[in-house]
Amino acid sequence: MQFFTALQSFWSVFRRLPRFIRYLGLLAIGILYMVLVAASPVAPQQPVTLQLLMSAPDVPPWTKYMVKAFEASHPNIRLQIVEGPNNVSLLEDMYTTAFLLGDSPYDLVTMDVIWTPKFAAAGWLVDLTEQFSPQDLAAFSPTDVNGGRYQGRLYRIPVRSDVGMLYYRKDLLEQAGLAPPKTFEDIATLSKVLQDRQAVRWGYLWQGKQYEGLSAMFVEVLKGFGGFWVNPETLEVGLDRPEAIRAVQFLQDTINQGISPPGVTTYVEEDTRRLFQNGQAAFLRNWPYAWPLLNEETSPVKGKVAIMPMVPAAGQQGGSCLGGWGLGIAKTSKHPKEALEAIRFLTSEPSQQKFVMEAGYVPSRQNLFNKPQITAKYSYYPELFKVVQNAVLRPPIAQYAQTSDILQRYLSAALTNQKSPEQAMKAAAEETRRLLAAGKKSQK
Ligand code: GLC
Repeated sequence: MQFFTALQSFWSVFRRLPRFIRYLGLLAIGILYMVLVAASPVAPQQPVTLQLLMSAPDVPPWTKYMVKAFEASHPNIRLQIVEGPNNVSLLEDMYTTAFLLGDSPYDLVTMDVIWTPKFAAAGWLVDLTEQFSPQDLAAFSPTDVNGGRYQGRLYRIPVRSDVGMLYYRKDLLEQAGLAPPKTFEDIATLSKVLQDRQAVRWGYLWQGKQYEGLSAMFVEVLKGFGGFWVNPETLEVGLDRPEAIRAVQFLQDTINQGISPPGVTTYVEEDTRRLFQNGQAAFLRNWPYAWPLLNEETSPVKGKVAIMPMVPAAGQQGGSCLGGWGLGIAKTSKHPKEALEAIRFLTSEPSQQKFVMEAGYVPSRQNLFNKPQITAKYSYYPELFKVVQNAVLRPPIAQYAQTSDILQRYLSAALTNQKSPEQAMKAAAEETRRLLAAGKKSQK
């Protein structure tokens, strides 16, 4: 009240002063205000928020273990995770659309190992070459680092590696007195035995939907039958060779013989993992992230599952597909400095170790595979290191995205019995050759 009375009496005096004096007075008050603001302690800075989009199964480990740890050590930066779809091809489309529209909300780009050529060529990523020394990079698996390079420049730092693995119900095999499979043929035979004994509804689950996961799964079967997709040096295409046709035939047979459910042609990783976790199948092809989930407290198959490297066809050498995820910085980000700080933290050894311990991820830092804390929890990690070293790459070529689209389309046609494996693979090979030849011409 007193304040208002004082203000009123000040105003009645002030308005009676000559106009010139009033203006001078107002000016003085303005200057005084500015001096006070300048002298006051700096107003606390608003933290910078970095947005990143990732596939749905990655969100829980990131939010549970990584965001809090990062924000605690970087009070000036917030990480805002946007949950994307399970299907990684849709995730890629979401990033692509955001970048094409020009005003992408994403600062950090969570990138699959095969996205770098496309994203870097389009000019969507910050060049990180000068930010990471050869010594920094030497700690990572070389193939994971190479997955982040495009035309000799570095655009993506690995957060984790990935390799396709075979999971099986060791309890069911033991009860039936059967040994684990050594070949694809064994998977089919053992599946039928367990299905006949009604131990299990389905034999083998794999990712058969028309998306990137189908290409990743297929390179393993292809390698297991002794075939190849595209030779990255010569751009020779191997899809119409007998080995490739046999690989498709094997997958088609698993469906036609009732070993795999017909729905397998619509499944991505999480569909297969859930079905297997519910005890519906004997064998599962999936990535190592599935291990902690299959063994969580509430899992019906907890303690009943074993994991092993992907098997080949009889008489052949097998190979797991190399996957993996890394971080890049979007060119449109307004906070590249903070984004770089986040990348350093999230790809560091302590962060990777946390990801491995909590989410079963495959590290891209080589020393972690044999670290005692890790092997105490996951005894198969030293073996996993060898699997990563011998993994099959999806062809690291500039036109990978279109090459994979072609393969997915024709594989899908064969798996849904719209084309024979031979017809499908002949057409896929021809279309791939045309694409790569056009690419060669345009480079001349
Ligand atoms: C996993 C792999 C990735 C692959 C994807 C396919 O996330 O890490 O490289 O492209 O699965 O679904």
